[in-house]
Amino acid sequence: MLRRKRRLLLQRRKPINAPSGDPDDAARGILIANSRGGRYTIPAKRLYPFQWNWDSCFSALGWSTFDEARAWEELRTLFAHQWPGGMVPHIIFHERHDTYFPGPDVWRLKQEVPTSGITQPPVAASVARFIYERAKDREMARDMLARLLPRIFLYHHWYHHQRDPGKTGLVAIYHPWESGRDNSPEWDAALAAVPADKVTPYKRRDIDHVLAEHRPSQDDYNRYMALVELFRSHDYDHGAIYPLTPFRMADAGVNFMLMRANRDLLWLLEETGSADGAARAEIAKWIARQEEAFESLWDENAGAYCSLDLVAGRNTGIATSGSFLSLYAGAARGGRAERVAGTVERWISESKFSVPTIVPSDVLFDRMRYWRGPIWAIMNFMVATGLRESGYYAALQRIGEDTAVLIRTNGFQEYFDPLSGAGLGGADFSWTAAMWLFWAREFGR
Ligand code: DGY
Repeated sequence: MLRRKRRLLLQRRKPINAPSGDPDDAARGILIANSRGGRYTIPAKRLYPFQWNWDSCFSALGWSTFDEARAWEELRTLFAHQWPGGMVPHIIFHERHDTYFPGPDVWRLKQEVPTSGITQPPVAASVARFIYERAKDREMARDMLARLLPRIFLYHHWYHHQRDPGKTGLVAIYHPWESGRDNSPEWDAALAAVPADKVTPYKRRDIDHVLAEHRPSQDDYNRYMALVELFRSHDYDHGAIYPLTPFRMADAGVNFMLMRANRDLLWLLEETGSADGAARAEIAKWIARQEEAFESLWDENAGAYCSLDLVAGRNTGIATSGSFLSLYAGAARGGRAERVAGTVERWISESKFSVPTIVPSDVLFDRMRYWRGPIWAIMNFMVATGLRESGYYAALQRIGEDTAVLIRTNGFQEYFDPLSGAGLGGADFSWTAAMWLFWAREFGR
């Protein structure tokens, strides 16, 4: 019986759109098939049947290459579900589906359209800028930005106030899901300290759709659920949760994405002639604080910026592809930029395909397990953008070419094995299709 289930899963894993024809058409076809009501894009059928915050933003980049109105609509829909205090939830449960756990019955938030009670990496401002800079319909772009930018400002304001009450320049995540890199080894020690013995029994649904060895472990899941139950018992009052959550992490990835997003938000406000001088001054203050604080993330041994465990008061010392977003943020300069680029170059020389989530020679490396080894097209895009902007063209070229080869050979999978290139996780994945359209295809001609 178990063997049969495994065989079925393996069959289902075959990418339906392993692009035999034109990959551009296949990628557009995936976004169209995953679009719901012309308003938002699900990441993948069954596995992720709702709207996810950062997935949705990356999908918008894909849409922008062939339907600018639809790209802006994606962001508009996401921000229509922003909480009054500014948080943009990590999942919006637009419809009922029983193929995903934990659904709205677990989060138990009373809203017309239910959402989860935590957030995800704040990439919306950067995505809005990418779309704006390439937009053909300038009038529509400016019109959409006029509506979107105040909401994005409120989101960043929420991050800097609720998640950094001491104004240190480092915002905290409360849950591995907020990093977007759920089972990164960076979280292992902190998660081990999260008590999970009293978690309400539950049934995972992710492993009905993809192989368990591609996903976070059961022990990780128990602790993820323990945190959700803790936050629920405090009514998702993020200010009150800050001092009491056992998992409070200055995630290098999120902090760097927020820094770039702050710069992009400021740029967009200036570009669109926003009269709100106070908002612009506040963003400039956030950036200045971040520039100073990020020094505490530097780990000399790792040759990279690493996440800081704010509960234990210690740097994790574990470099991941999230660490390389320091270039994307413009946070690593001079000698530090040189060191980070050197670390990227060493990693990619050790790996058949780039960029692995952790370096293959590390004992923690697991080529198939989600964020413990595999390659993700969205990370490649952001890491490569940082390399390009800092002038490291050879590494950028390698990453772009690898991404194009992986997609052309193995389809629009959720993630890829860095040693064999095999496609892993969900098939026909929206953000992989979007990254092809917006970026990787220029390396794949
Ligand atoms: C999941 O369910 O795997 C997500 O990453 C959490 O949002």
